[in-house]
Amino acid sequence: MFKFLKRKKQAAFINEVDQENLPRHVGIIMDGNGRWAKSRGLPRSAGHRAGAATLKKITEFASDMGIRYITAYAFSTENWKRPKAEIDALMDLLLDYLKDKKLLEGNQVRLKFIGDRSVLTDEIKEQMEIAEEESAGRDKTILYLAINYGGQQEITKAVRTICQKAAAGQLDPGGVTEQTISENLYTEIPDVDLIIRPSGEFRLSNFLLWQSAYSEFWFSNINWPDFSEKDFTQAILDYQNRNRRFGGI
Ligand code: FPP
Repeated sequence: MFKFLKRKKQAAFINEVDQENLPRHVGIIMDGNGRWAKSRGLPRSAGHRAGAATLKKITEFASDMGIRYITAYAFSTENWKRPKAEIDALMDLLLDYLKDKKLLEGNQVRLKFIGDRSVLTDEIKEQMEIAEEESAGRDKTILYLAINYGGQQEITKAVRTICQKAAAGQLDPGGVTEQTISENLYTEIPDVDLIIRPSGEFRLSNFLLWQSAYSEFWFSNINWPDFSEKDFTQAILDYQNRNRRFGGI
């Protein structure tokens, strides 16, 4: 019964948005987990765990709404500066998340990853591959988890690949365009239309630097674990009221 009422409420939210003007690609900076935990007298890891549950909830809802691509910032190249215990907790959480066979079950969500996975443990790398393979047949929504991801590192990697191709005579340096850079990034999907950052911070924090050239931003004071379907709907409604000119008039 409770589930039925929840579905009804979600359907009502989805009815509010204009299906003809949905962002194709939504980026989410899942911030405020630590503060959420602290305000409840819990360890920071409990905040991350609650944040991971929120990601599952919001991804399922966004997929029902018709959002095609979501990129969620789970671990940045700068997050290695955190205490070892917190890094270990985040990696354990990631492993649990990937091993959870109920993850996004019943939904048409495909899981992919962006970032440098070379430094992750063999177990995590293996589970990432399994998750990618097992979800490969789903095509309604693609959830990209950004893990050990940094926008500057991504652009540097693309430039390095292009230089190597040029040095090998496979590419004319004079012919390098924005398209060439885009093609050598981790993402093979459209640039990000809307970036959501909760928890009262107003930074991009090295997230999708190239892909956010013309993104719209949506900020709120809500800590990520408290982020609801209603908040997501509001972000989409606000996006639909923006006048995107892409440098034109
Ligand atoms: C920033 O909040 C959040 C992170 C560095 C990690 C985000 C990770 C998750 C939500 C969980 C991992 C996701 C998966 C899919 C396993 P913060 O910790 O800096 O919060 P604070 O600014 O309040 O301290």
